[in-house]
Amino acid sequence: MLADKDRIFTNLYGYQDFGLKAAQARGDWDKTANLMKAGQDAIIEEVKASGLRGRGGAGFPTGMKWSFMPKAPTPERPNFLVINADESEPGSCKDREIIRHDPHKLIEGALIAGFAMRARAAYIYIRGEYIFEAKVLEKAVAEAYAAGLLGKNAAKSGYDFDVFVHRGAGAYICGEETAMIESLEGKKGQPRLKPPFPAGAGLYGCPTTVNNVESIAVVPTILRRGAAWFKSFGRENNHGTKLFQISGHVEKPCVVEEEMGIPFRELIEKHCGGIRGGWDNLLAVIPGGSSVPLVPAAMMMDVPMDFDGCKAVGSGLGTAAVIVMDKSTDIVRAISRLSYFYKHESCGQCTPCREGTGWMWRVMEKMRTGNAEIGDIDTLYDVTKQVEGHTICALGDAAAWPIQGLIKHFRPEMERRIHEAKGDDMLEAAE
Ligand code: NAI
Ligand code: SF4
Repeated sequence: MLADKDRIFTNLYGYQDFGLKAAQARGDWDKTANLMKAGQDAIIEEVKASGLRGRGGAGFPTGMKWSFMPKAPTPERPNFLVINADESEPGSCKDREIIRHDPHKLIEGALIAGFAMRARAAYIYIRGEYIFEAKVLEKAVAEAYAAGLLGKNAAKSGYDFDVFVHRGAGAYICGEETAMIESLEGKKGQPRLKPPFPAGAGLYGCPTTVNNVESIAVVPTILRRGAAWFKSFGRENNHGTKLFQISGHVEKPCVVEEEMGIPFRELIEKHCGGIRGGWDNLLAVIPGGSSVPLVPAAMMMDVPMDFDGCKAVGSGLGTAAVIVMDKSTDIVRAISRLSYFYKHESCGQCTPCREGTGWMWRVMEKMRTGNAEIGDIDTLYDVTKQVEGHTICALGDAAAWPIQGLIKHFRPEMERRIHEAKGDDMLEAAE
């Protein structure tokens, strides 16, 4: 278990004030200019050496992403940093806690990261529903300006840097990085085809890096304590500490900072007081937010909670939003509800997603309401395969994978429900 002295987010539960004075007392903004004196390339190398991988879900190496940015931007074509605070993945709520209680870690991180990638400014795109958090963030940004930590000669570093807070309007798809860029530009939030990646052509056509809130907020601590310290947690390719968000049928749902790779059972026992009704009552887990496949209880127990550990059981760490379902869960209904979410949030730009998400939800609803045929299970699987990998952005895959997970692990349960709804003799059906 991670020791208290190794936690980055020391005000995660808001026991102290979020404001500048309290943040400084916790060590934020401590000689920031000295950290920056190391130079841009040295900071990028340090972040690379720390093994930090993107905390928004995809796990792309952060330092490497920064290194794609041009080293000699011009006034006509400046570099930009966009911070993705459009946290909308069902189950995910860690960025919310950072912004609520530790916003100065994010703002200081923005300055250092922006400096390292030679960005002129950072835009923090915060989801529309985070009304209170947007106010906190705006207040913290204003405090930082008033204290000379942002703006001209930010934090007396000799570097000019601005931070803008931009509120979204409630569309899940605007969390996709290129849809977010479109939205920032004042257009309809629809994903662009990649490549070009944002580092080549991003905001207003300029080189842009889009990073998650947590990825940026950990940077000042990594620089203060050193890459080796961060890298000492976890295992090869899966380093550092991580915010886990555990929801569902545990005794005490929570957001907690832990070492990457903590075994699933330990995470739940130590921080959530166990599974509601005991471990025998566990049915399935979605380990990384709704966009990754579910994993049945028996396969999940000893899984190291990191990118490779979750991948090895056919799922993903995603945002580390761990959704726990006990045996009281109607698993078909749960996945049908997720299907509705993706159908509702599809931007409608590409046919397989626009039509496919509707198809998948309608067949899932037939299953849920007892109006499906046995053959519908294969039809459903077929549709998921037509969507997966055939769309502009990852929303299509995200809609397909939970259903694929359901069919892979709970096919007998799906068949049982269909037979039961039809009043079939179960023994005959099995033959
Ligand atoms: P991705 O794998 O396409 O990209 C990840 C990042 O790496 C992007 O910033 C991309 O620009 C960069 N990148 C990848 N290949 C590159 C290359 N060859 N050159 C330059 N840059 C490159 O994944 P994506 O679509 O950005 O994110 C999908 C993930 O987002 C999912 O795994 C899901 O878990 C997560 N997600 C998180 C949500 C949240 O609320 N935090 C909401 C929905 C999804
Ligand atoms: Fe839009 Fe869906 Fe296509 Fe993504 S996959 S661009 S959400 S239609």
